[in-house]
Amino acid sequence: MGDSGSEGASAHYVLATGAAGEQRLRLLDTVYGPSTDRLLADLEVRPGMAVADIGCGVGVVACWLGHRVGATGSVVGIDRSEEQLALARRDAAALGLSQVRFSVADACDTGLPRGSFDLVCCRSLLSHLRQPARALHEMSALLKDGGVLVSEDVDMTVVSSDPPTMAYARVAELLSGICRHIGSDPAMGAHLEALFRTVGYSRPQVRVDRPAFRSGESKRLWEYTFLELVPAFLDAGITTAAEVAALTAELARLGTDDATVVLHAPKYQVWARASRTD
Ligand SMILES: C[S@@+](CC[C@H](N)C(=O)[O-])C[C@H]1O[C@@H](n2cnc3c(N)ncnc32)[C@H](O)[C@@H]1O
Repeated sequence: MGDSGSEGASAHYVLATGAAGEQRLRLLDTVYGPSTDRLLADLEVRPGMAVADIGCGVGVVACWLGHRVGATGSVVGIDRSEEQLALARRDAAALGLSQVRFSVADACDTGLPRGSFDLVCCRSLLSHLRQPARALHEMSALLKDGGVLVSEDVDMTVVSSDPPTMAYARVAELLSGICRHIGSDPAMGAHLEALFRTVGYSRPQVRVDRPAFRSGESKRLWEYTFLELVPAFLDAGITTAAEVAALTAELARLGTDDATVVLHAPKYQVWARASRTD
């Protein structure tokens, strides 16, 4: 679902940026953040490390990393959107994280120094790009020998509910449709391990986190994602205003119906250590 000048794609990022998209990104972190935190803790992100977060959005993960690397470490968050970074800078400053800074750049051409980072990560970035391998190559080039490359992404094609509903089946179809329309991979998460291999990592590690909710705001993440994407769906001609109205009502009903569990898109976590012999 993405844009990219230097990656050679002309489609634009179809989700909201800045204040309009902030709440959904925070909800995304509520749903998927615990497994991100667990993985980064297991990878022993520690004081003094130099870390880069690519496609950092409003800086949720970058700020978490800032706490872990402490005042002796450094975190740089990269995003194409100045609007996202304005919110990220505001939050990092409010948290007193002077070791966290943010720069506007493209994921495929970050302008960051090569061979300089202990950890380079991205979350929910590659599924927005037409050429995710280019971004992963760029991220890999930023690592010191022995540094860790981490990418987390979802497989949107299997968003569903239990019991199965036409509404969630259609949401999954529309998510896949908009990705295909702009040239990105809706099942990026499921293809991440293979992508790591294509950029030269022979033994990437993988975990999968599939949150599911019966109630609460977290249950509604993909409903809200659908709502944010309505203008893009209509522009792409893959739905109609009448279908949007019916789906909006049905998803809202399911959102508060405790008899239905929403099975979120599984998030794949893939990581590998840079090594000249790998
Ligand atoms: C879904 S958000 C995820 C943000 C953050 N990583 C998180 O997990 O909360 C994707 C972010 O990638 C950024 N983005 C999209 N295409 C990009 C590109 N080619 N280069 C850099 N950032 C990009 C968007 O501006 C957006 O902030």
